[in-house]
Amino acid sequence: MAPMPGNWLRAESQEPEQNLRALRPRTLEDFVGQEKIKERLRIYIQAAKERGEPLDHVLLLSPPGLGKTTLAHIIATELGVRIQVSSGPAIERPGDLAAILTHLQRGDVFFIDEIHRLRRQVEEVLYPAMEDWKIDIVIGEGPHARSIRLDLTPFTLIGATTREGLLTAPLRDRFEVVFRLEYYSPEELAEIVRRAGTRMGLEVTEEGALELATRSRGTPRIALRLLRRARDLAQVEGEGVVDLVIAKRTLELLGIDDEGLDSLDRKILEVIIDRFDGGPVGIETLAAALGEDKDTVMEFYEPYLIAKGFLRRTPQGRMATEKAYQHLGRPTASLF
Ligand SMILES: Nc1ncnc2c1ncn2[C@@H]1O[C@H](COP(=O)(O)OP(=O)(O)O)[C@@H](O)[C@H]1O
Ligand SMILES: [Mg+2]
Repeated sequence: MAPMPGNWLRAESQEPEQNLRALRPRTLEDFVGQEKIKERLRIYIQAAKERGEPLDHVLLLSPPGLGKTTLAHIIATELGVRIQVSSGPAIERPGDLAAILTHLQRGDVFFIDEIHRLRRQVEEVLYPAMEDWKIDIVIGEGPHARSIRLDLTPFTLIGATTREGLLTAPLRDRFEVVFRLEYYSPEELAEIVRRAGTRMGLEVTEEGALELATRSRGTPRIALRLLRRARDLAQVEGEGVVDLVIAKRTLELLGIDDEGLDSLDRKILEVIIDRFDGGPVGIETLAAALGEDKDTVMEFYEPYLIAKGFLRRTPQGRMATEKAYQHLGRPTASLF
């Protein structure tokens, strides 16, 4: 089996939802890590329930795969309300938004994923809905068009985005609660892997779980994907148990190195070092040199490389760090 291509991370995000749903925690109790967020959420949820009011609007920010969608569902469950799910690009016209909003029941959660991709005219209808439970809709066309104002039932908007920088200020300002999910520690990821193993009826040793966890880019979605690949291997080449040997072999087959970097991560660093003398290089130029989409690089790859200290973002562009040179075995003496 050849190593998977470097962009397997992106394929990850397109994994059928049903594969993930069965492994998704349903309560705050089951949601591993993010302790500060959980602590605050417990308080806000209890307070809202006691007052019989909807929870304030919540904005969830993080790179992909850290649990935003999961958390949105958990919030609805803990509140004991229904959840209506949509996404920025799916809401094409103000009328689509109005149709959703007018069908919400009191206190329902309305989850908008990829909220940075809302169209401007749709976003503008959302502002008064969030603030005053009102929407203005235009009826008719041309000279006969008129605007009418509808009252809405109070609801909770949960917005999620991987691209905080693309949110408009007026939208952002209308969220009372903003949570930034952090990358998970290896111990937390190992816990997630063990729990998922249990749910899958799969035996996973401590060392096996920790090995997968330390090379999952701090990301539960990746840890769970690695676990499924390890399960295949354990079945075909092993005794059905995900132990250290199986875990290591899984990572080797996928081309994931000791630092959890895959081949595109390494290619990004290589290109910066070998073709642009370590940078700074602008993101457009870098993406073109890689033959990759700029958004993919910015959304999936950069955040982790920056968090791990392999890459720096400067006003002039992206730069490889000394750690990147060392990891790729490039001489650094004259440079740093
Ligand atoms: N804190 C967590 N504890 C357990 N599983 C998690 C946690 N966060 C995410 N997951 C799992 O990781 C996968 C990706 O999470 P998801 O909520 O889809 O991420 P996002 O919406 O941020 O891209 C899901 O299968 C989810 O069950
Ligand atoms: Mg999501």
